[in-house]
Amino acid sequence: MKIQEKEGMAMRKKIIWMAFGITALMLMFFLAICQKKNGDADYQDEVEYVIGVSQANMREAWRLALVKEIEKEVKKHPEIRIITTDATELVDKQKQDVDKLLKFGIDLLIISPCDTRELTEKVKEVYEDGTPVIVMDRSVEGFEYSLFIGPDNDMIGRQAGESVVELLEGEPGKVLKLCGDAYSVQNQERIQGFDSVVQKYPQIEVSTNYFDTEQKDIAYDAILEMGEELKDIDVIFGNSDYVAKGAYDALEYLGLEKQIKIVGSDGFTEREDGVDMILDGKIAAMISCPTGGREAIQYAISILKQESGVPKQVILRSHTITKKNAISYLEDLEKETVDDGRMITVGYSQVGQESQWRLANTRSIQEAAQEFKIKLLFDDADQSQAKQIAAIRRFIKEKVDVIVVSPVVATGWDDVLREAKAAGIPVVMSDRKVETREKDLSTTYIGADFMEEGRRAMRWIRDHIPAGKKTHNILELKGNEGASPTVERGKGFLEVLRECPGYQIVYSEYGNFTYEEGKQIIEEYLQRESWDIDIIFAHNDDMALGAIDALEEYGISPGTDVKIISVDGTKAAFRAMVGGKLNCAVECNPLLGAPLMKAIRDMISGKEMPVRIITEEKVYDQSVAEELINSRAY
Ligand code: AHR
Repeated sequence: MKIQEKEGMAMRKKIIWMAFGITALMLMFFLAICQKKNGDADYQDEVEYVIGVSQANMREAWRLALVKEIEKEVKKHPEIRIITTDATELVDKQKQDVDKLLKFGIDLLIISPCDTRELTEKVKEVYEDGTPVIVMDRSVEGFEYSLFIGPDNDMIGRQAGESVVELLEGEPGKVLKLCGDAYSVQNQERIQGFDSVVQKYPQIEVSTNYFDTEQKDIAYDAILEMGEELKDIDVIFGNSDYVAKGAYDALEYLGLEKQIKIVGSDGFTEREDGVDMILDGKIAAMISCPTGGREAIQYAISILKQESGVPKQVILRSHTITKKNAISYLEDLEKETVDDGRMITVGYSQVGQESQWRLANTRSIQEAAQEFKIKLLFDDADQSQAKQIAAIRRFIKEKVDVIVVSPVVATGWDDVLREAKAAGIPVVMSDRKVETREKDLSTTYIGADFMEEGRRAMRWIRDHIPAGKKTHNILELKGNEGASPTVERGKGFLEVLRECPGYQIVYSEYGNFTYEEGKQIIEEYLQRESWDIDIIFAHNDDMALGAIDALEEYGISPGTDVKIISVDGTKAAFRAMVGGKLNCAVECNPLLGAPLMKAIRDMISGKEMPVRIITEEKVYDQSVAEELINSRAY
């Protein structure tokens, strides 16, 4: 071979090798890109989970604070990355943002919707397609999401009202409410809560000034424009930090900052905002409106790891911050929490065994205790408050870590709960609530939204048994007197009924949630009166089943001659619906064990307890009963 030919061959070989090398490099590069889920982030193959955060807007301070808190928490979890989008308060943009995040291949979506109604379908679509969704701040309609986390705006309003009352020290006074958007549900709830407290004091006069956006400048101008009117004002309630800040600056300009006190809400922790204004003595009190960013990431991890015990709704606690507790409030926000995995001893006072629901509830609690490494001291009080109080005292003596009570009635617990508090034992209310004169005697409530159950029952009646020319007569079978499900289901039912002409409750009796008493009430009614009832609303399935048997014995067809609606949604109720004897069952979920035990472990590891932890509940009627009966867990 000639030298030139040899050189040419070597050159060709070189070129082929180079081309091969370049192709291999490109391929490796391409494969690397492909491995990174959907291509354009250079971190995805290092992380386990990508979470999309769809924020309604990034101009409101509270929403920015939410994103910041999410980012701060994410830094503690190297296995997570987030991608954040800003919907600029536009519904269509937020829907597109969600689609983009899904295309990117996110593992979970956190969404703070700009319009809850308009985004309900989108959230449902994502959730039903298998991507977990955490809804923040404002809840969409229904339960088609993994978890909702938000504040209790009514409670924020009530706390603000209490602060105002305290600042006036029992003297007559004039209060000015400075509020953003009068049509926002959040504002309405805060105002409602505020008014419900302040209205109890006739010596306090309240006026309100609404403006469109909660901006510092707008609040500033509003105060300046008030001129002479300001002279009589003693306290201003600004329903956000920025409103409070604008009001303070205007008062300072007018030289009135010492004369007029300010109560704000939000509790931002940025320099010169929120809590800083408390520390500087500019604002007298501030009610925190937690963003829930930290909790969102913590729960997101639990959801992604498919841990049990994630509830449906977490309603966060708001704090009243004053100069006295501002520093400890800030310190608490920074506290790290750890679950050391130790065995926790819990004393559980169960109300009794009155219903199928209760038996399922007890089973769920006992099973979950084992799963969550909790030693359970279980006491069944057989419907007696005295027995429950005795059990709580025993638990205190035994120095359990946590006491859980499912209280037979709502009142009469102050003394024993104070004893538990003095012993340093936190008390959790499970399934039913208590009403105490003193605040903070229990840490959290975990269970259902009974008011909503009552509303749902009446809404189902309104939509499925239309009011005709003749008014429909309703017979109500109530639970036991003074129990929170009895009181609240009754209230919720009445709330909707009042808006519905053509329905009236003609008879109402306590059946104590038992089959026997449900049956007996109907039998006695039938013996006494001629049957004039069109609808029975039973506060639980057992009483409805008792009523069904009583009616049949008298030759009246339940479900046809009389429509029957009950609460609980047990398998027995489903059987009655399949048989056409019960028309509708509003679900009350007894499976509280796992979320309760998770909450207890969280509490012991130092996490702040939400005010309420709510379970998922639906409404079922005959149209779905057959299809779902076999999937019912209780
Ligand atoms: O507190 C929940 C109620 O108590 C259930 O609806 C009822 O069945 C039970 O006994």
